[in-house]
Amino acid sequence: MKDTKAAPDIFDAGYIDRVRAFFASRPGGDIKAPLAHVRTFGCQQNVSDSERIKGMLAQMGFGFTEEPEQADLILFNTCAVREHAEDRVFGNVGALKGIKRRRPDVLIALCGCMVQQEHIAQRIKASYPFVGLVFGTHVLHRFPELLYNALAGQERVFEIPEGDGSIVEDLPVCRDGKFKAWLSIMYGCNNFCSYCIVPYVRGRERSRDPERILEEARELVRGGYKEITLLGQNVNSYGKGQEHGVDFPKLLRMLNDIPGDFWIRFMTSHPKDATRRLFDTIAECEKVARHFHLPFQSGSNRILKAMNRGYTREQYIELVEYAKSVVPGISFTSDVIVGFPGETREDFEQTLDLIRRVGFTSLFTFIYSPRKGTPAAGMEDPVPHKVKTEWFSEMTALQEQIAAAHSASMVGSVRRALIEGEGEGYLEARLSENIVVRVEGEKSLIGKFAEVEITGARSWVLTGRVKNVL
Ligand code: SAH
Ligand code: SF4
Ligand code: F3S
Repeated sequence: MKDTKAAPDIFDAGYIDRVRAFFASRPGGDIKAPLAHVRTFGCQQNVSDSERIKGMLAQMGFGFTEEPEQADLILFNTCAVREHAEDRVFGNVGALKGIKRRRPDVLIALCGCMVQQEHIAQRIKASYPFVGLVFGTHVLHRFPELLYNALAGQERVFEIPEGDGSIVEDLPVCRDGKFKAWLSIMYGCNNFCSYCIVPYVRGRERSRDPERILEEARELVRGGYKEITLLGQNVNSYGKGQEHGVDFPKLLRMLNDIPGDFWIRFMTSHPKDATRRLFDTIAECEKVARHFHLPFQSGSNRILKAMNRGYTREQYIELVEYAKSVVPGISFTSDVIVGFPGETREDFEQTLDLIRRVGFTSLFTFIYSPRKGTPAAGMEDPVPHKVKTEWFSEMTALQEQIAAAHSASMVGSVRRALIEGEGEGYLEARLSENIVVRVEGEKSLIGKFAEVEITGARSWVLTGRVKNVL
């Protein structure tokens, strides 16, 4: 097997032609393009990385297929955030064994956060011999080289250098959406929340140059994109320690100044770095959506401390109240963990209380999952899983009530929305507040802004009608 080595942090397009030549030289390769099946697990950062991977594959002459059975390359971009995420990947990888047996020429590859962990890479080496290429998060830009080595060489390729990671510009991209785009402004995380694996698998926080971000955003707007979502594990610490002096509020202003009709969204914000100045900026930037995803994780100060989150419930609530006062109508969503080691019923009730006070429009709720190598994985965890699942259900029931009441209060209002997709017999329109409304209309409206009147609310599902296409 190959040894790991220090990764150069520029994109070397040299191997693109070699991969093309490799496939062209196969029987029938001159008339049939190779096909790749790329599947993404995990968060938007992974979705965005997969768009770069597909960009590189397209340059190498690949077409894409939804069917692993038809693919010459099957690539899974993996997530490690909870045990369930890893189990899903292993389950799906196991199912590929038969394909490899029937078609030994197929290359099965894994990349992303999960394989960046040493113990997982070892497990794949030992127990999944049909996986021919494994590469970590820090070498995405070397994908053509690694792919070529795995295709042309006799050995399996494992390339998982450790390190802090770098920023590589100018990777090609093949975006999934035609009017909604992801735009990474930074990579990595320095926060080391005690439960979280992300800092270990994504390296240290590093921000892209503001000029490169603006350039990409301008190109998106020119290309007709109507919504740009800025990505980072903690966008509020964008630009920290850099000479250009552009921090996140400044960056938002610069993006807001780009001429055109589009929305700016961003995720994720860490409460310890969200400032009043940020909300003042949002209030003044008409293109920034009236929605804030601000994970609070727990409503108990004792648990927040054990999580190493760096704020209290009082500070969190105060911040939300300030935001609501300067940005009227702003909606809040959040992430919350139930059953952190040592959490008591009292702690949990503090979480319920915070949920009631803030009135989130929706919540992403998780049961704590121990991650190997994180501090929380070594903490006493006496509460049985069954109790945690009961708390979990209690919390989701409370949130449903809150969301339903909020939905009902919106009936009768007229709001701007982006028509973004279709369901069975309806179109889906997303409001600036990040709330979805079902409307009737022609498919040709998809990708357009419209004025939508909210006419009904059933539980948390809103229905409405298009008044005007904008
Ligand atoms: N950087 C983002 C979130 C990254 S992970 C932030 O700080 O908000 C997305 C969510 O997964 C987290 O907000 C947290 O709620 C959840 N999560 C992370 N690690 C977890 C774990 N070990 N068990 C359960 N949920 C976890
Ligand atoms: Fe994980 Fe915390 Fe970093 Fe978010 S801020 S990625 S939860 S360590
Ligand atoms: Fe998962 Fe990695 Fe994102 S662990 S949540 S894909 S940063």
